[in-house]
Amino acid sequence: MIECAVRWSPPLPAEPRFLALLDELEQGRYDSYRQDIDKRRFLTGRVLAKTVAAERLGLAVEAVKFDATCEDCGKPHGRPRVPGAPLMLSISHSGDLIGVAATAGTPVGLDVETATRRAEDSLMEYALTPAEQAAISGLLEAERATAFFTYWTRKEAVMKATGKGLKIPLQSITFSAYDEEARLVRSSHAALDPDRTRLADLKATEGYRAAVALITSDDISVTEDFTPL
Ligand SMILES: CC(C)(COP(=O)(O)OP(=O)(O)OC[C@H]1O[C@@H](n2cnc3c(N)ncnc32)[C@H](O)[C@@H]1OP(=O)(O)O)[C@@H](O)C(=O)NCCC(=O)NCCS
Repeated sequence: MIECAVRWSPPLPAEPRFLALLDELEQGRYDSYRQDIDKRRFLTGRVLAKTVAAERLGLAVEAVKFDATCEDCGKPHGRPRVPGAPLMLSISHSGDLIGVAATAGTPVGLDVETATRRAEDSLMEYALTPAEQAAISGLLEAERATAFFTYWTRKEAVMKATGKGLKIPLQSITFSAYDEEARLVRSSHAALDPDRTRLADLKATEGYRAAVALITSDDISVTEDFTPL
């Protein structure tokens, strides 16, 4: 059984005790966001991830240093990792909810989305396979949006677990029905094999949908922690 721990937080205030945890590159990214809420979401993701890493590795939070080099372009906006440590992390933010998923080395992807907004038909056609579209076509609008974001977060979670993100076509993967246990049913992309992909829909918070995915053929056990930082 592979364990995966997800920790959630609302956006933290931009206080010195949190800002002090950012290194120079992270400070640069923080400064580059124009809107305060975007700055706070980024800050919260980093503080949450460093707190989780510190707890799991037995370090002081100030001692956790991330390498977030993008695998594509070399800029420091990729997924964070602690070089040499038996730890995989995935950060996601949407609205007023920020989450970090952690495993002891199994590739992991987390995605959260606010689900109270309208899901446009064009977005559904772009993102969902015909089987997924058929499964939600008879629903009323609010339920349809929730079902859509269930699929969307499952898709982003598995894509983030591979490290490729949205470079994998959304239509290349099909999931179990939105109201069934989350499972990757079909994939035409080489990076995602249903036999080696496990995922779970998460509780997150009311008004949000979230999913976490692991690249493994073992069963998974996922916990969610809402303890304030
Ligand atoms: C990663 C990606 C899925 C983010 O999706 P999103 O819904 O906008 O944002 P989320 O809040 O869910 O996730 C953002 C987090 O994903 C992580 N991340 C970045 N690149 C990632 C990747 N390739 N794989 C997995 N996670 C990644 C980061 O930790 C980021 O948070 P941070 O910048 O605060 O540390 C999307 O930006 C993507 O597909 N990027 C990679 C592909 C790409 O465009 N590469 C070219 C860049 S040069």
